[in-house]
Amino acid sequence: MRMIIMGPPGVGKGTAAALLCKHYGIPHISTGNIFRELYKDQTEVGKKAKGYVDRGELVPDEITNLIVYNRLLQSDAKQGFLLDGFPRNTDQAAALDGYLKESNIIIDAVVNLKAPDELIIERIGGRRVCETCGSVYHIQNLKPQVEGICDKDGGKLIQRIDDMEETILRRLNVYYSQTEPVIGYYEKKGKILHIDGTGTIEEVNDLIMKALGESV
Ligand code: AP5
Ligand code: MG
Ligand code: ZN
Repeated sequence: MRMIIMGPPGVGKGTAAALLCKHYGIPHISTGNIFRELYKDQTEVGKKAKGYVDRGELVPDEITNLIVYNRLLQSDAKQGFLLDGFPRNTDQAAALDGYLKESNIIIDAVVNLKAPDELIIERIGGRRVCETCGSVYHIQNLKPQVEGICDKDGGKLIQRIDDMEETILRRLNVYYSQTEPVIGYYEKKGKILHIDGTGTIEEVNDLIMKALGESV
């Protein structure tokens, strides 16, 4: 399975992607996660990207596209992958198409998760992430066993810098102006599956699996 998951910030792309990747046994390639890792490892690219990420702006295409191409070249992505948060503008979508064509790779599905802004703001506002491993929780919807502590490694749960309210609004603006047009790009190709992202984590997963023709 080779797929793309798109949708506004905080709609639940990463959460849905984790379940899909487990089901299909494919790597979860999230550009946002990669930028955060690169910064944690104190790499030059990570330092360059951090300002954009923290402000809620898109990291320039020349940096982002290369990161994705390099990631797709790794051996675990040969049998399939899930791209989460890429492409995020129509130039990235065209660049990805060029790359895939050259590499003889076909995308099987593009999933577009949808939810209204109020719900998104509630989801992002309640999100907590593990400082150590990046696992994602929610103070109401996906609680850790012990408040403030990661179930997997005991790491401290914190808020992402770009999850502050005014940055959430900027991310939504960037989404509507730059990323939403990518939906039209894939609609023209007849590839996109629109999924209602307002239900529980399990309900959303079921809808995606059904749309992909899997039995649930
Ligand atoms: P990125 O990390 O991709 O952020 P985003 O798109 O804003 O999306 P999020 O990760 O915030 O949300 P999500 O949809 O994954 O939701 P989640 O599953 O966590 O990108 C960050 C930044 O990196 C960008 O702003 C940009 O600067 C840069 N960047 C990344 N890609 C780029 C690109 N291609 N080009 C240029 N720059 C790029 O869920 C949110 C919360 O809701 C969680 O707490 C979760 O537990 C909860 N939740 C999830 N699903 C449900 C549900 N069904 N019911 C109840 N709660 C739920
Ligand atoms: Mg995410
Ligand atoms: Zn952790």
